[in-house]
Amino acid sequence: MYPGSFDPPTNGHLDLIERGAKIFEELVVAILRNSEKSPMFAVSERLSMLRELTANLKNVRIDTFDGLMVEYAKSLNATCILRGIRAISDYEYELQMALMNRKLEPTLETVFMMPADKYSYVSSRLVREVAQAGGPVKGLVPEVVEQKLREKITTPKRETRAIEILDRIDLGGKELDPKGTKRKKKA
Ligand code: PNS
Repeated sequence: MYPGSFDPPTNGHLDLIERGAKIFEELVVAILRNSEKSPMFAVSERLSMLRELTANLKNVRIDTFDGLMVEYAKSLNATCILRGIRAISDYEYELQMALMNRKLEPTLETVFMMPADKYSYVSSRLVREVAQAGGPVKGLVPEVVEQKLREKITTPKRETRAIEILDRIDLGGKELDPKGTKRKKKA
C-alpha cells in the first residue's frame, strides 16, 4: 500500500508507483481523505487523476482511506507500506512515522524507495505554490495534472467552493450539517 495526500500527484509519485509496481505483486495507492483543511484538489479529482495516470499498470489500484493508515492496510491484508524518500530531510519524519506505524501494527513493514534523482526536489506543496503564483510546472507533474492546475488557477473562487462540496460528498455528507441544525424527524 502506498499512502499519501497526492494533492496533486507529481511525477515523483508516479515514478515511485512504477517502481513499486515492479517489486510488489499488487500495489494499492491510498489517498488520505481528510489530510488538509483546504486542499487544492478534491479527493475525487485526485482519485480520477491517479486512475488515469496508472491505467497502464495492471497491478496498481487507487483507493481512498480515512482514519488510521494501519487499520486500512490491515483491511486490505497489505504486508508493506511503501513510502518515498527524496532526500535526507525526509528521513526523520518518515522514520518517526514508520516506527509509530510499527508500534500500532508490528506485522506491517514500511519499505522506502527513492524516486529518480531528477524528482528529488519535487513536492506537491511546492508544485501548488509555483502553480498558484503563475510559474511553470512542466516536467514536475504529468500533463493531465498540469492541465488541471491551469484550470484551477484560472477559476479559483468557483473551484474552491466546488472542492468543498465535492469533499463533503466524498465524506458521505457527514460534514454537511456540522452544527447538527438539521430538523429532527418527528417520532
Ligand atoms: O503524502 P503525505 O501527506 O506525506 O502522506 C502522509 C500520510 C497520509 C501517509 C499520513 O499522514 C497518514 O498515514 N495519515 C493517516 C493517519 C495515520 O495513520 N496517522 C499515523 C501515522 S504515524
